[in-house]
Amino acid sequence: MKILITGASGLVGSRLCARLKRAGHEVVALSRDGERAAAKLGVTAFSWDYRNEPVPRAAIDGADSIVHLMGENVGDGRWTTARKKAIADSRIVSAKKLIAARPGSLASFVSASAIGYYPGSGDEIYDESYRMPQQVGFMQALCRDWELAAAAVEEYGVRRVSVRIGLVLGKGGLLQKLLPLFRAGLGGPVGDGRQWLPWIHIDDLVKILELSISDESMHGAVNGVGPDPVTYATFARSLGAAVKRPAFLRVPATALKLMLGEAAELALGSYRIVPRRLTEEFGFSFGYADIEAALESAIALNT
Ligand SMILES: NC(=O)c1ccc[n+]([C@@H]2O[C@H](COP(=O)([O-])OP(=O)(O)OC[C@H]3O[C@@H](n4cnc5c(N)ncnc54)[C@H](OP(=O)(O)O)[C@@H]3O)[C@@H](O)[C@H]2O)c1
Repeated sequence: MKILITGASGLVGSRLCARLKRAGHEVVALSRDGERAAAKLGVTAFSWDYRNEPVPRAAIDGADSIVHLMGENVGDGRWTTARKKAIADSRIVSAKKLIAARPGSLASFVSASAIGYYPGSGDEIYDESYRMPQQVGFMQALCRDWELAAAAVEEYGVRRVSVRIGLVLGKGGLLQKLLPLFRAGLGGPVGDGRQWLPWIHIDDLVKILELSISDESMHGAVNGVGPDPVTYATFARSLGAAVKRPAFLRVPATALKLMLGEAAELALGSYRIVPRRLTEEFGFSFGYADIEAALESAIALNT
């Protein structure tokens, strides 16, 4: 299969790229810097400035599947008006352009989405049956519009999967940022630690994406989280135990809000999300179902 991946140079994309290459697929990447992406990933890559350019024809022509992972990092600092626009446009404007340029060969369009689709409060368990109300904040609106943009491809008879991803435990990302703190014994829960954190090991996520590309029964929105979300307190305790250091130093919610403003909700929100469709509808079996094993493996990827 010819598989076009946007955001292929990122945490998720680079692992997916390697796996698809090993499986014998022709993988093509789109990046802001095609040369750098090709050198990093060892695949054909094209530069694409999604704001000012059409999708390069040589990249998309003949593609059987598009995996749309690109996007301005949501967790990198304050959500200023300009960053909110970059966060939304890099996911949504780009999705619309990819769909407008779709080749006749396209059979599936797989897009990232995020657990920010859900309300982010309390202990209630959420699955894909949740219906979003009209009035929502930035994160929920972003995920809704991101999924709507991807779903537009269905009008052309192309199967679409939007994977609502939780915190990915892999090489890089938040874990890489937390590790030095926890290794120095300076880690601990955020806020009161009672908020829920849905996590997923990178290799399980890559398997879900691979399945989404090729399994014709997969469609619509699917929660890409492990079967056992934990509280921040448990996450911090497990990460401390994994690096054999105490992890009692709390990051107060007020400090985080002062530092990050609205973006603090990413860490302070409570997301008790379960992968109902994956386990009950698609019979997916997770390689990493408990946080200790997932952390041990992900820490090894970062060392
Ligand atoms: N990692 C997580 O925990 C997590 C959780 C929930 C959802 N997700 C979603 O899953 C997708 C992949 O996540 P990831 O962790 O692999 O992300 P990542 O490591 O931040 O990679 C995303 C890629 O998007 C491209 N990109 C970044 N900013 C951009 C911009 N302003 N305009 C155009 N392209 C830009 C970059 O590729 P180039 O430099 O090659 O252009 C980057 O490597 C993202 O959409 C993310 O929101 C991730």
